Amino acid sequence: MPSTISASKSNPYTQWFKAFSAMTLAGGLFVGIMIALWFMQTPQGAPVAYSLQSLFAMNTVQAWWYITRAAGLMSYFLLWLSMVWGMVIPTKFFQGVVEGTFAYDFHEFLSLLGLGFVLLHVIVLMLDQYLPFSIAEITIPFIDSYRPLWVGLGIIGFYLFLLVTVTFYMRRTIGLKAFRAFHVLSIVGYLGATLHGLFAGTDSALPVAKFLYAGTFLIVSFLTVYWLVFGALAKREQASAEAARVMAQRRAHRPRQSHR
Ligand code: HEM
Repeated sequence: MPSTISASKSNPYTQWFKAFSAMTLAGGLFVGIMIALWFMQTPQGAPVAYSLQSLFAMNTVQAWWYITRAAGLMSYFLLWLSMVWGMVIPTKFFQGVVEGTFAYDFHEFLSLLGLGFVLLHVIVLMLDQYLPFSIAEITIPFIDSYRPLWVGLGIIGFYLFLLVTVTFYMRRTIGLKAFRAFHVLSIVGYLGATLHGLFAGTDSALPVAKFLYAGTFLIVSFLTVYWLVFGALAKREQASAEAARVMAQRRAHRPRQSHR
């Protein structure tokens, strides 16, 4: 997870303009969607609504199931990418290739986008007509009737990713040590999400899905080992540098022996 809010040097007017444009765009989109939805409910808009429903298969029972599966796979990929990106940042691999603040901001962006797709994944499950989930079933692990163990792991994974993200914004209050400890939980969250996707997912039988889970898991395993070794070496280097500094200090303060 990121450790920075980028120190943007652009002047306040540019920032206000950007914020204003983003708000106008989001507001315009929202109003546009509302008008389109209203129009499609009128007799004149009915043919448009029917064509759109047919185009996106929204008038079938499976439509919501497709959306939730697509959102699940997307959220898995984004959260994986965010984790991998975050693990690569301290290795200085991006140095000279990607600007420092961008690397952290992108990490933050990927996490938020991934969590957004998880929300879509679970909200659509509630709208599903074939196997609808209740609010209790999407928030309390292991109580649903559809593959409860594997769905439960997904719910726990989501809570862990959420905790990691929330503690990022609280890092000044909780301190660096606690922030890092919470961050490690994303690996546990990732394992939960992987088992969840693999064993709860309809698409897991497809070779492309198997390849996705195997490939992503191998990369995370490699980076975790690399990260542990890298961390241990860095600590050892720091300890020997500290020992050398103390020795040098002692030598400097030791009274000179006079030779007769
Ligand atoms: C970190 C959070 C989560 C991630 C990354 C995630 C990801 C995924 C993935 C990749 C799949 C497989 C999709 C497929 O094979 O088509 C899946 C399936 C599923 N997920 Fe999640 N999920 C998460 C959280 C949740 C939560 C909180 C629920 C709540 C109930 C949930 C319910 C389900 C269900 C019911 C399925 C089976 C859908 C199917 O048949 O494919 N997931 N999820």
